[in-house]
Amino acid sequence: MAKQTVKDLNVTGKRVLVRVDFNVPIKEGKITNDNRIQAALPTINYLIENGAKVILLSHLGKIDHKDPEKTAADKKKNNMAPVAARLAELVNAKVTFIPETEGKDLEDAIASMNDGEIILMQNTRYEAGESKNDPELGRYWASLGDLYVSDAFGSVHRAHASTVGIPTHLPSACGFLVGKEIDNLSAAIDNPKRPLVAILGGAKVSDKIAVIDNLLKIADKVIIGGGMAYTFFYAKGYNVGTSLLEADKVDLAKEFMERGKDKLVLPIDTVIANDFSNPTEIKTVDSSEIPDGFMGLDIGEKTIELFKNELQGAKTVVWNGPMGVFEDPRFANGTEAVCTILSELPDAMTVIGGGDSAAAAISMGFADKFTHISTGGGASLEYMEGKELPGIAIIQEKE
Ligand code: 3PG
Repeated sequence: MAKQTVKDLNVTGKRVLVRVDFNVPIKEGKITNDNRIQAALPTINYLIENGAKVILLSHLGKIDHKDPEKTAADKKKNNMAPVAARLAELVNAKVTFIPETEGKDLEDAIASMNDGEIILMQNTRYEAGESKNDPELGRYWASLGDLYVSDAFGSVHRAHASTVGIPTHLPSACGFLVGKEIDNLSAAIDNPKRPLVAILGGAKVSDKIAVIDNLLKIADKVIIGGGMAYTFFYAKGYNVGTSLLEADKVDLAKEFMERGKDKLVLPIDTVIANDFSNPTEIKTVDSSEIPDGFMGLDIGEKTIELFKNELQGAKTVVWNGPMGVFEDPRFANGTEAVCTILSELPDAMTVIGGGDSAAAAISMGFADKFTHISTGGGASLEYMEGKELPGIAIIQEKE
C-alpha cells in the first residue's frame, strides 16, 4: 500500500482522531455482534501503547434530518452509549463516552485527556452536515486533533465530513484494519493469481450491475446465483413463476450473457416453493422448468456440483452475495455449500465481501476458513466494482 500507515506517524502525546466503523447491530440496547469493534482493536491498542490520546468517531445507523420527530427517534435508537460500554470491556485503557458531537463538554474532555486514554464521541450522524461532508464540520472536527487515522473500512466509500472532511486538514494515515482490507482486496482484484473466479449473488441485478460489469472484464469466470439469477433465466426465455424478476433489467442480463459467453455461469437447477414465508411445497427443478405459482429461493444440488467444478483450480476467488434466502434454513443449503467448497479449495486466496455473504459465512461457522472476510458491505462492493474509495483516496501517500 502506498498510503501512510499509522506506523508512519509519530503519535506519542498527540491527539489522534480515529474514524472507526462501530456501526454494529443493536437490539433493545444490546450489541448483537461486536465484530466491527473487535476489528478496530489492533489500531486502538497500538495507539494506546504508543501514548496517543485516542479520540474515536463513528456513525451508527442512519438519522433522518428532515422530519424533527424522526430525527429524535433515530437519535434515541442510534445512541453510541452501548458501543462505548462494550469498548470499555475490550480495551485496557480509560474510555470516556462524550454524548456530544461538538461544544464545550467535548472540547474540555479532550483538553484534559492523558496519554493512553480514549474518548468516544456521540454518533457522527447526529450532525446533519456529516453525510453532506459539510466543510465547516470537517474543519471543526479536525481542530480537535493533531493527526487523523482512517480505520473505518466499512465507511471509506462515503465522502462524509468524518471520512474525507477531517483528513483534508490533518496529517493522515490508514489504520491496521483498513490496511488489511485494502491489501487483501487489492491482491484479489488488482493483482490476482489466476484463474480468478467471482461468485456473485444477492437479490437484485440492479444492485450488482457495476460489479458484474467490472468482474466480467477482470475475472476468468463469473458465477451468478441468488435472486438475481431469475432475471437471467427470464432473459434466456425461461418461465420464472413468481420468482424475483426485474423486468427492466432483462435486456441488461441478455447483454451480460452475450458479453460473458462461457465465462458467465448460471445455476442449472433451483429450489422452489409455493410461498415465501409459509411454503407447503418445496422441491428442486431444472432452471428452465419453474412452474407457475412457484418461486426460486436457492440453488439446487446439480448447480452446487457445477459451481464446485468451475471452482476447481481457482487461485483466487471473490464472493459477494448469498446464493439463496439463507436466513431461512430451508433455503440456506446453496450458500452453505459455497462456503464449504471455498473453504476446501487448496491453494486459493478466498475473499468474501462484507454485508450478507460475510454475515452468512460467519453465522454458518466459516469465520476463520477464508483468507479474508471484509468488514465493509458497500465498501468492498465498490472496490470490486473498480471504483475509487474517497475515504482511502484522501489519505496521504507515504513519503
Ligand atoms: C455499513 O454498514 O455498510 C457501513 O457502516 C456503512 O453504513 P452506511 O451504508 O449507513 O453508510
